[in-house]
Amino acid sequence: MTEAQSDNINPHRLRGRRALVTGANGGIGRSIAIRLAREGAAAVAVNYLSRPEVAAELVGEIEAWGAKGLAAQADIADEAQVDEMFKRIAEEFGGLDILVNNAGMETHHPFLKMPLDAWRKVLDVNLTGAFLCAQRAARLMTEAKTGGAIVNISSVHTVIPWGGYAHYCASKAALDMLTKNIALELASEKVRVNSLAPGAIATPINEDVWGDPEGLRDLLRKIPSERIGQTEEIAACVAFLCSDEASYVTGAILFVDGGMTLYPEFRHGG
Ligand code: BGC
Repeated sequence: MTEAQSDNINPHRLRGRRALVTGANGGIGRSIAIRLAREGAAAVAVNYLSRPEVAAELVGEIEAWGAKGLAAQADIADEAQVDEMFKRIAEEFGGLDILVNNAGMETHHPFLKMPLDAWRKVLDVNLTGAFLCAQRAARLMTEAKTGGAIVNISSVHTVIPWGGYAHYCASKAALDMLTKNIALELASEKVRVNSLAPGAIATPINEDVWGDPEGLRDLLRKIPSERIGQTEEIAACVAFLCSDEASYVTGAILFVDGGMTLYPEFRHGG
């Protein structure tokens, strides 16, 4: 077993918890949804935008791990659709203990040419969508007086500027500040809110880079661990942040990036 495949599951860690993972139809979100089910969650809702057959298959996998599954179609940037999704979750799960704001998107536009609609779309999904879901989730958690855990999936690009992705970087930096604000406001209500900032993880979002030998070589130069991360390595850390083992962790930003944020070009001194 390689480091990347290590599979240290604790099937009791999230016992009884009810969770929602946004953008769960692939990549990091899919691994998180499965991980939460495998760590004992009672119910996992998978939010998705398109490809209902993929969501249905994921729900089947979640149920095979013993959790109740729910496929929740919604555009998270649309308030009415988010309200409808949370209504269904409240009815079917009777409440919510965990929200993972994972849904996100990126498109490439040099700054001088970035159209306003591309800027708006990325901010709408990555930031406003996370706001809408966090607010609805936090209302359920505080009304029930049970508290809960919210994890926002940000990025190394919350601190590393990235040419052609001004909208994406701005959305992730703002998301981390949103994490801190909600954490501050809701700590006394026992709602913990943290960000998890992945580096280069092999998913369809960046396949054009790691799928190309030249692109992969260039990418690996930016990662001190000299390998691309796996979605399971993100999911494991999300499960930790959602669990009672992280009971005193709130407002934190956890980088899970193989050292990408450590100024790799300085690794040999000079
Ligand atoms: C992006 C990926 C990129 C990685 C490292 C992530 O936030 O979604 O496309 O490979 O950062 O640059």
